[in-house]
Amino acid sequence: MNNTSFGVAEELSSLKDKSYISSFDLTFDQMHGLFDLALQLKKGNRRIDLGNRILGVIFKKASTRTRVSFQVAMARLGGQIVDLNIQTTQISRGEPIKDTARVLSRYCDALAIRTYKHKELIDYANWSSIPVINALTDLEHPCQSLADFFTIQEFYGDLKGLSLAYIGDGNNVANSLIITGAILGVNINISTPKGFEPDNSILKKASSIANISGSSIDINNDPYESVKGVNAIYTDVWSSMGQEEEAGERKSAFEGFTIDNELLSRADKEAIILHCLPAHRGEEISDNVFEGESSRIFDQAENRLHVQQALLAALLGGV
Ligand code: CP
Ligand code: NVA
Repeated sequence: MNNTSFGVAEELSSLKDKSYISSFDLTFDQMHGLFDLALQLKKGNRRIDLGNRILGVIFKKASTRTRVSFQVAMARLGGQIVDLNIQTTQISRGEPIKDTARVLSRYCDALAIRTYKHKELIDYANWSSIPVINALTDLEHPCQSLADFFTIQEFYGDLKGLSLAYIGDGNNVANSLIITGAILGVNINISTPKGFEPDNSILKKASSIANISGSSIDINNDPYESVKGVNAIYTDVWSSMGQEEEAGERKSAFEGFTIDNELLSRADKEAIILHCLPAHRGEEISDNVFEGESSRIFDQAENRLHVQQALLAALLGGV
């Protein structure tokens, strides 16, 4: 289907009551529908009032952007957040997910969950009768990758024919970028040190989608090769939440994978720099590239809000 207004509205209404667990859960049209709505919301051309709906949030890991952007998005949609603090609820005492999920489904209209094991999130979704949103797991960060490609589209006007290089750890952020890029038809080059490649089963599944969308996925261990001529360069921390003890070892393994001016000079002249944040300057990215004129990092962070507002509106039936 073409990305027409009619098609977009139809695609978004098909998301009502659905969960968003993986980047694989959305189609090309649904992603473009969300981008169109996010742009309207960002420009102030559209207001959506869902009535007093409640998003329950469970964060088992720290968060600034995801937590605050979901909270502000719900407030702008006329709803509220209920923060299910894991220490003061029965969650930390081991109440089974199947019970917690069924109870929360009686109070809330949707749940956003950040946790370690992806399987835990799937269990929540299977036992909930309300939409469940992945606010990051060890395997994926699908809300992030939506905002990332929205940011690239905003800069270039169109995603068609573009290439993105991701340099660093083949982690949750990389996995979701690969999937979303394959669905949207953006060429993705991933460069990691040996042994830190993205998830293999995600790669296989995304490659078959890329074959259909006409894009490519290239995995290698040479950052200079990966950034050649690309339109966007992306990186993330070398040690994700939960890997703090490996930080020293990882720092040595990732030597040569810093995005600095020399690496940037191999990309397209207009190439933009992205980072999901938080960043470790001097490790995965140099301070002058982070703060430089190619950086769109803070637009990208802002766009979490607009894209998630569009996502919530669609899942809660407001479009
Ligand atoms: N990028 C991102 O998800 O940031 P937070 O960990 O602050 O939510
Ligand atoms: N890969 C990072 C992303 C943080 C938003 C982590 O999981 O810690």
